[in-house]
Amino acid sequence: MRKAFGEVVALKRAEFILKRGSIHALCGGNGAGKSTFLSILMGFITPDSGHVFVNGKEQHFDNPKQALAAGITIVQQELSTIPDLSVAENIYLGNEPKKMGFVDFSQLNQQAQNLLDDLGFNDISPQAKMRDLSVAEQQLVEIAKALSHANADIIIMDEPTSAIGEEDVQKLFQSIRALAERGKGIIYVSHRLSEIFELADMFTIFRDGSYICEGAIQDITRERLIEHIIGGELSQEFAKFNIPSDDIVLEVNSLSWKNKLHQINFQLRQGEILGIYGLVGSGRSELLDIIFGLEQADQGSIYFQGQKLERHSVKKAINLGLAYVTEDRKASGLVL
Ligand SMILES: Nc1ncnc2c1ncn2[C@@H]1O[C@H](COP(=O)(O)OP(=O)(O)OP(=O)(O)O)[C@@H](O)[C@H]1O
Ligand SMILES: [Mg+2]
Repeated sequence: MRKAFGEVVALKRAEFILKRGSIHALCGGNGAGKSTFLSILMGFITPDSGHVFVNGKEQHFDNPKQALAAGITIVQQELSTIPDLSVAENIYLGNEPKKMGFVDFSQLNQQAQNLLDDLGFNDISPQAKMRDLSVAEQQLVEIAKALSHANADIIIMDEPTSAIGEEDVQKLFQSIRALAERGKGIIYVSHRLSEIFELADMFTIFRDGSYICEGAIQDITRERLIEHIIGGELSQEFAKFNIPSDDIVLEVNSLSWKNKLHQINFQLRQGEILGIYGLVGSGRSELLDIIFGLEQADQGSIYFQGQKLERHSVKKAINLGLAYVTEDRKASGLVL
């Protein structure tokens, strides 16, 4: 497949084979042509040349309706649901069951309930207002919406985890695996390699608009995958460019909080990127919340640029020069 936008050739030679029941990662760096390729599959744009076959039959999509009719559906990256409508109304928006010209709400809710049950999204009520759901639950509703088209055999997911926290990612992965087990083919785009290795069984790599290679995830190492994506040796790309100085900017001593944190100690130097590792629930977010002044430590001390922070507010932390990019950008990361 080929597609140019004026002078820019977004796709030179794209190829992709999706098998039934497969979770297939589409990998590539920024500008590799992934979104252009997916847009063609979804009927948003038409290719300059090339062919699409669905179940062996050649298809041309002039618009998204035609792609959907051929069984291709997408879970949008950004949430597109309407907060004031119910879960059921959002799922069947524009497609509501009608009775004498009016929306048949009992039928609507029943249909949504069946679909949610079917997908294993048991915690979500069809009558709940969208705004009362967690971001992860809203993302699950997006998926339910994509799958409300019963004939959808091919599901495209473009960075579906970008808006949800780590704990809910697992829930989402479970439902994706269940869909694959039922024979749906899934194209999964993510910049997080760890997700690709955890979830996908196949990969295809694009670089500069061209197909590079494909294979089974179990047959490739992370290093090799990155090398194909960047088209070079890993060592050049990942050379360390930050060199920490000896100046300590943040120091945490014997910090304890509730049952979550016990005697935490670390020092952060200027120019340093410090990784904090731990399982879900190990207290990483709580530690950051305390440093940022969202919670108060029970014991221990925090020094920021030599100044002791004690029972400090978020406002003070910001004024001192701390910034916090939260786990859940949409709900708690918004500053108005
Ligand atoms: N509508 C457009 N008009 C002009 N150029 C475009 C258009 N859409 C995409 N491009 C260009 O085509 C190339 C491929 O872009 P595309 O968005 O498909 O890449 P991508 O693999 O999705 O990248 P990313 O990982 O950043 O999302 C890029 O050079 C991009 O600038
Ligand atoms: Mg893209």
